[in-house]
Amino acid sequence: MAGLLSSLVRETLPNYLSNLPVPDTFGGWFRLGFKDWLSLVPPTAVLAGLGYMSYLAFCPHGRPVPSRQSNQKIRKNEAKVVDTIDIEDIAEKAAFCRCWKSNNWPYCDGSHGGHNKETGDNLGPVVVRKKGN
Ligand code: FES
Repeated sequence: MAGLLSSLVRETLPNYLSNLPVPDTFGGWFRLGFKDWLSLVPPTAVLAGLGYMSYLAFCPHGRPVPSRQSNQKIRKNEAKVVDTIDIEDIAEKAAFCRCWKSNNWPYCDGSHGGHNKETGDNLGPVVVRKKGN
């Protein structure tokens, strides 16, 4: 394996590159034939691929940056989402959302299940109940 890699780096690749029809002058590019241009496609594609991979690796704007916000939709016009619920208003028990995905905020509507299935997370509600229930 090491011999194959050594041969590739020391002989095959330099021979391949030295045989590419790269002109010495600017005007030489205009005198290249169809086969010459065709032979330049593979190394150009490899260089473009390496350049694109480098761009993705080192430029944070090159890939979508996941939002760092937990709250994606609930009352986004407020500086802070605060809910106050009187304990007397809870019948026997109530499940409150902790995943920020509920469509019935602040109560859990089971939306955490879809999130957990999609991401492998383990989010769930907090259940408040009266003693004895
Ligand atoms: S929907 Fe958010 S915890 Fe259930």
